[in-house]
Amino acid sequence: MPEIHVDLAATPYSVTVERGILDSVGQRIKALGLSGKVAVISDETVAGFYADPALSSLESAGYQASLFTVPAGEASKSLSQVGELCSQMIQAGLDRSSFVVALGGGVVGDLAGFVASAYYRGIPFVQIPTTIVAQVDSAVGGKTGVNAPEGKNLIGAFHQPKAVFTDPETLGTLEDREFREGFAEVIKHAAIRDAAMLPRIHAAAAQDRATLGELIADNVAIKARIVEEDERETSGTRALLNFGHTIGHGIEASLPYGELLHGEAISLGIRAALWLSVTKCGLPQSQADQVLQALEAFKLPLVLPEKVDPATVLAKTATDKKFMGGTIKFVLLRSLGDAFVSSEITRQDLSEAIDQLQK
Ligand code: NAD
Ligand code: GLY
Repeated sequence: MPEIHVDLAATPYSVTVERGILDSVGQRIKALGLSGKVAVISDETVAGFYADPALSSLESAGYQASLFTVPAGEASKSLSQVGELCSQMIQAGLDRSSFVVALGGGVVGDLAGFVASAYYRGIPFVQIPTTIVAQVDSAVGGKTGVNAPEGKNLIGAFHQPKAVFTDPETLGTLEDREFREGFAEVIKHAAIRDAAMLPRIHAAAAQDRATLGELIADNVAIKARIVEEDERETSGTRALLNFGHTIGHGIEASLPYGELLHGEAISLGIRAALWLSVTKCGLPQSQADQVLQALEAFKLPLVLPEKVDPATVLAKTATDKKFMGGTIKFVLLRSLGDAFVSSEITRQDLSEAIDQLQK
């Protein structure tokens, strides 16, 4: 049973990765010492698959648990949904001695975590992540929040979970495209911190999903170590997690919502960041190729869709407020596993990196 400790001074917790753990979450939460009524927050799709085992495990452990669902999808990460959930929880009699269980992908984790951070000025919560993105990334680190009409993740709070229980068996019901896109983040973690993990990730493309527990545990441990080093993203270490995201976000913003999934845009952003790493700081091309091959193994895109105009991507990536003295902060690799934040990337560099994504 792989267990990863997130050793934060004020709010330490563990991530337990185990097949079938969903059936014993009630007892495990009891062992943490959490008491009171439980709000299980999920989305309609995930609840259809996994609410019953989660609720019955909580009830067998003696908890009074109520299920609150939101529609599946990014649109549920909104302030109005936060207000709606809080009202429903008040009406159901949950109070300051209650706690929240987030059962779902990153949308549910971010939303439910934010509800927990604000409800009665803050109650505990537990993460049960059910997508690759949530299992290796969003369930760990305490960034919770919702989107504003003006942009993604602009309203939120740091609120660390009391524990994360990850069941790789839940990945079995994930749509193929959702499953594959998650590997952009898995590959990103290896690229910035653990080159030796790349061959294992590549091999995982042909592996039974339910057997991915050890890889998920080792991969989320990379994020845990970074969060321990820089919980509030103040020293620059946590910013390394933005590898591939600067241009990736620009690509995402250049298309109507949902045409490219986040991980697909990040795959392209990683390719652009690798090209800049090779040309600007000597990353060996053979090492860049290893990352590209891993992205290819999960059928993630490496060439900009024809309908995307590189000039639009540049405009969305290189907004003026991101530039200081003609350069932008950009995560590069000196070698696989050795990432750093460069302050030397210019608008012209970004333009060239985006252009080469057309080939
Ligand atoms: P998601 O939560 O929208 O899930 C994707 C889809 O898969 C949804 O339709 C969902 O209903 C479905 N689904 C989830 N688990 C399933 C399962 N086991 N079986 C079948 N269907 C399932 O998307 P996501 O990719 O998990 O998360 C994306 C969100 O995470 C974004 O809002 C992003 O901003 C956020 N995020 C946050 C952090 C953080 O540090 N807090 C990090 C990365 C991403
Ligand atoms: N996903 C980026 C972070 O948690 O900081």
